[in-house]
Amino acid sequence: MANQQYMKLWSIGGGKGGVGKSIVTMGLGISLARLGNRVILVDGDLGAANLHTMMGLRFPPLTLEDFLLKRLPRLEDVVVKTPIEGISLICGADDLLGAANPTYFQKIRVLRELEDLPADFVLLDLGAGTSFNILDFFNHSSGKIAVFTGISTSLQNVYGFIKCALFRKISREFAKDFEILTLLYEDEAAAEEINSMDDLVAQVRRLAPDKCFRLLKILRDFEVFLVTNMVKNEQDFRAAEIIQSVCADFLNIKPQILGHLLYDPLVDVAINQMVPSLLHQRDNKIIRGLEQIAKRMMRLARRPLPTLAPDNQKAAPAASLAFWKGALNPGS
Ligand SMILES: Nc1ncnc2c1ncn2[C@@H]1O[C@H](COP(=O)(O)OP(=O)(O)OP(=O)(O)O)[C@@H](O)[C@H]1O
Ligand SMILES: [Mg+2]
Repeated sequence: MANQQYMKLWSIGGGKGGVGKSIVTMGLGISLARLGNRVILVDGDLGAANLHTMMGLRFPPLTLEDFLLKRLPRLEDVVVKTPIEGISLICGADDLLGAANPTYFQKIRVLRELEDLPADFVLLDLGAGTSFNILDFFNHSSGKIAVFTGISTSLQNVYGFIKCALFRKISREFAKDFEILTLLYEDEAAAEEINSMDDLVAQVRRLAPDKCFRLLKILRDFEVFLVTNMVKNEQDFRAAEIIQSVCADFLNIKPQILGHLLYDPLVDVAINQMVPSLLHQRDNKIIRGLEQIAKRMMRLARRPLPTLAPDNQKAAPAASLAFWKGALNPGS
């Protein structure tokens, strides 16, 4: 199965702290393992590694540091077993990549090793924020999941995260193109005219039509999956549609809704007792959402080629959308 998979490495990011990136990583790992997949979770939270604790390991025997500092030659060597059948883990190393300030190419080397790990799914739990390290790991993963909750600050953050990731992608693709980089980051006159991706596309078209074609291809291929976590009501449930709509209007991209996870008090019990399998107790609230998402990931992983997001999502009510568009893109 592993050889045929197109999407093996999935990053779980989202910008804001505490929205449930680690819980989603762990929960999806458990669901995927229960569906017969070999799963490796990777703690990519370089500032506050804690996935091992959530997975029931008090003291990590090996960490990412052992690979990065070349104490062990292959990333595969630092994979450790967890109490759950089918799930292994690469424990995080606190702030190591940040302190070592890795070059872009060192990061790519780590990413290649991640893709070569012996698993059907490798799930990379990213830390909070929009540092270049986080954005590069997110952008280079074949599956990009953005997690958020229905609360307004989380919507703002996840939109900001997706926007930063997209701009980072564009600036990497045009890394040697001074004209485009200036347009993106330095040209104040142009910045005043650029309120949306359409404006940027128009500016680039004016500069050079061939570059515009490249830019449009980046936008078309930029595929992000949305997971709303801690859903408590209808309004939370519709939060993903708002993100979709704002991304379509201002960034010219169409994130797909991967699923929703209900707020479930059992999550805290599973963390406090360090018994991750409690997440999958029968009849708990979060399990159905996790299983649906895991099944979708398996279908997506087997796709032979990337496909464009289906344009099948209903629009959110006009009043709330208008409000959100103003709030999320105040310059528009
Ligand atoms: N579906 C859920 N139901 C109930 N509580 C949840 C749920 N998801 C997350 N939580 C709560 O939110 C807390 C934060 O979750 P988590 O540590 O996964 O967030 P995070 O996004 O990884 O945070 P950080 O950015 O700090 O790493 C959990 O400890 C738990 O209390
Ligand atoms: Mg976390």
